[in-house]
Amino acid sequence: MKTVSEIDELRGIIKAWHQQGLTVAFVPTMGNLHAGHISLVTEAHKHADKIVASIFVNPMQFGANEDIDNYPRTMEADQQKLINAGTDLLFTPTPEIIYPKGLDKQSYVEVPNVSEGYCGESRPGHFRGVATVVCKLFNLVQPDVACFGLKDYQQVQVIQTMVEDLSMPITIIPVETTRETSGLALSSRNGYLTVEELKIAPALSQNIQWLAEQIQDDTDFIGLARKAASFIDNAGLKTDYIHICHARTLQPASEDDNELVILAAAHCGKARLIDNLQVTLNK
Ligand code: PAF
Repeated sequence: MKTVSEIDELRGIIKAWHQQGLTVAFVPTMGNLHAGHISLVTEAHKHADKIVASIFVNPMQFGANEDIDNYPRTMEADQQKLINAGTDLLFTPTPEIIYPKGLDKQSYVEVPNVSEGYCGESRPGHFRGVATVVCKLFNLVQPDVACFGLKDYQQVQVIQTMVEDLSMPITIIPVETTRETSGLALSSRNGYLTVEELKIAPALSQNIQWLAEQIQDDTDFIGLARKAASFIDNAGLKTDYIHICHARTLQPASEDDNELVILAAAHCGKARLIDNLQVTLNK
């Protein structure tokens, strides 16, 4: 695996692959890689000849109150994991390479509707930062397909919508969430959890699962979601939101919808955990 930080070098390698008729799959990350990220690389292999990953802790998607400086950076271990997973090329740009004019003077991509609410409400500007950096990375890497983890369900919808709205010739491959045996979704943020918090954190996925079962025969979506929130709080977490939504538009689900997603976020100690579950109603 070759690691490059410069745009010209990245473009040169990928141009040569394209000239040979090879297809490219892309796995963008912010590093601190775990088995969930590696499952994206494994999936990427099914769709293209060459695999490009990126590690870039994107300042544009962090809020002023979010501690980007302390975001875990584990480059050497990440490189080894990507080599083991058969990655061909790793792009590790600096913020100056991605945002040479600085964040304030940079054009941006704003995806309406699906960016609003849920994590968009709790983290203002977050999805603008995600859409902008993913758009830039897509333009640099020019992949045929790109893999994203479904743990960040709203992010996947934002990126899918951006690709459709802006006619980007890229297929987005959503990849199932990797979980601990407790049900806890793997996340770089789990590293902030203490031993005691690790014991209570699975209450988030467990109560999403409980809610998924309840909505099969009860249409009081709001009442049930409220109950799930109080169960999560009683377990020692602090619910940020838990909502039952239309799986694609992310609007609050109505009784007529069949394809749903439960979106949830909760604070556990220093970590803000997110999780979700897609549910098809058996009507
Ligand atoms: O999911 C992430 O790690 C990031 O939001 C992404 C897609 C790499 C953009 O910075």
